Amino acid sequence: MALPSKNPTATKSWKQLEEHYKAMQNVHMKDLFAQDSTRANKFTIKWDDFYVDYSKNRITEETMTYLLQLADEVKLKEAIKSQFSGEVINQTEGRAVLHTALRAPKNADFKVDGVNVMPEIYQVKQKIENFTNEVVNGSRKGFSGKPFTDVVNIGIGGSDLGPAMVVESLQYYKNHLTTHFVSNIDGDHVNEVIKKLNPETTLFVIVSKTFTTQETLSNANTIKDWFLKSADESAIAKHFVAVSTNIKNVKAFGIDENNIFPMWDWVGGRFSLWSAVGLTISLAVGYPNFEGLLLGAHKMDEHFKNEDFKTNIPVVLALISVWYNNFFNAESEAIIPYSQYLSQFATYLQQGIMESNGKSVDRNGNLIDYQTGTIIWGEPGTNSQHAFFQLIHQGTKLIPADFIGFVISLHGNQDHQDKLTSNFLAQTEALLNGKTEAEVKAEGASSELLPFKIFEGNKPTNTIFINKLSPESLGKLIAMYEHKIFVQGIIWNIFSYDQFGVELGKQLATKILQELNNTATNKHDSSTQNLLNYYKHLS
Ligand code: F6P
Repeated sequence: MALPSKNPTATKSWKQLEEHYKAMQNVHMKDLFAQDSTRANKFTIKWDDFYVDYSKNRITEETMTYLLQLADEVKLKEAIKSQFSGEVINQTEGRAVLHTALRAPKNADFKVDGVNVMPEIYQVKQKIENFTNEVVNGSRKGFSGKPFTDVVNIGIGGSDLGPAMVVESLQYYKNHLTTHFVSNIDGDHVNEVIKKLNPETTLFVIVSKTFTTQETLSNANTIKDWFLKSADESAIAKHFVAVSTNIKNVKAFGIDENNIFPMWDWVGGRFSLWSAVGLTISLAVGYPNFEGLLLGAHKMDEHFKNEDFKTNIPVVLALISVWYNNFFNAESEAIIPYSQYLSQFATYLQQGIMESNGKSVDRNGNLIDYQTGTIIWGEPGTNSQHAFFQLIHQGTKLIPADFIGFVISLHGNQDHQDKLTSNFLAQTEALLNGKTEAEVKAEGASSELLPFKIFEGNKPTNTIFINKLSPESLGKLIAMYEHKIFVQGIIWNIFSYDQFGVELGKQLATKILQELNNTATNKHDSSTQNLLNYYKHLS
C-alpha cells in the first residue's frame, strides 16, 4: 500500500497554524513562563533515561493541539504502521524501509515480500559476533601469524559517517584495536592513514552497499596495491572483508566468499549502521556493546510506534521543527551536544536529515511550494559557545537548537561535569530570557553601549538530558532522530528514502574524468570548460 499523500498546506490544521502564527510571532517565551508556573512540567517528556524538556519553545498548548491535528490529518499513524510492516514506502526505489528490523528481537516478524527477514538478520548478526570475537581475542591472525592491531573502515556517506560517529561517541568503551576511517577520494586521506599502518596487523573493512561507489573502490584499490607490496594475493583473504549487497562485485575485487557480510536493499545507506555496516563499531567496542546500541534503538522504536503522539519524543520534536521551518521560516537547526564524545554527531545527522528530506517534489510528483528539509549544523558545547553562539544569541536569524547533555560523567570528574552542566543549562536559559535594557543598565553599562548589550532572548531550544552516554542511550538518541526524519517526511509529503539529487554530480564527474584521461570530449558551459583547461594545463 502506498503512503498516504496529502498536501500539508491544504489541511485544516495548517490553516489554523497560519492564523495562530500571527498571534504567536511576537509572543515572548519569558511571558509564557511567567503566566504558567506549570509550563516546564507540561512540556517535558520523561521516558526511560531520557528527560526531554521542550518548554523553551515558542509554543502554547494551542500550538501543540494544531500540530498534533496536523499529524493526524496527514495520517502519520497509518504511515508509521506502513513503515514497520515492511510496505514499499520507498516508492521511488521500489523498496521497503526496515532498518528497524535490524534492531528487533529474534522473535519479531518483519516481512519483505511476504518473507520474514529476521532469520537472515540473525544469521548475519551471528557472523558479526563470531568475527568480532576472533579479531578482538586475537585468534584470527594476519598473514604473518600476528593478531590484528588496527582496523580500517573504507566507505563513504552512510558507509562511513554512522560507524565513524558511533566509534567516536563510544570511545570510552573501546578495546585495544585502533580504528581508522578512509572516505574521501582525496588521495591525501588514504595516504595519511596508510602512513600509520603495518600491513601484517591491519584488517580492512570495505563497506559499500552498492560496491560501485567511486571513492570507496578507489581507496580500496589503493590500499590493496599498497598491501600487496608486503604480501602475496593469498593474504587478501585474511586481511580484507566487505559489507555489501553486491556480492558479484565484491568477489570480483578478490574478497573471499567467507569474508562477505551481506546487507539488504531495504536498508538505506544513511540508516545502515545497525546492519553489518556497523562491523567496525562491533570490532571497536566489542559485540556486546554493539548489541547494546541495537537494543537502545529498538526501545526507541517501540516508544515511537506505541506512544501517544502527545508524549512521543520523535513526533513532538518533529512537529516543533515543522512549526519553525514552515511558519517562522527558520532555515536551519543547530544540534549542540554537551559531550566531546559526540563531536561527529551533527555531521552524521547532516546526511540523515538533509539527504532524506532535501526534496522539492511531493509524493504525487508535483513541485512543492512550501519549505521542506532544514539545514543542520552544530558542534559540541562548550567549544561552540566560543565559536558561533554569538550569532544564535544576537544575530538576525532564528535558529532553533537541540541541546543534548548527559547527567553522569563517564570519567567521573565531577568538577568538570558540574562546569559543563552549568554551561549546558545556562545557555538555554540565556537564549530564553535574553537581557533587558533594565538589566543591562543595572550592570552599569554606559548609554552608548546599551543597545549592543541588550539580548532579545526568545530563542527556542529543546533540552535532551540523558542519564549517561552508553551504547544503549546512544542507540536511543540516533533512533530518535531517525524517526523525527520520518515524521517530517510524512508531513511534508515527500519521499525521504531516495537521494537522486546526489547522482547528477557523480555522472558529470565521470564524464570530466574521461576528458582528463583524454578518452572523450564533452560540451560544457564556458566556466567549467575554462577551469578544466586550467587544470589540464597545470597538472
Ligand atoms: O551519496 C549517495 C550515497 O548513495 C549515500 O546515500 C550512501 O550512503 C553513499 O552514497 C555510499 O554508498 P555505498 O554504500 O553504496 O558505497
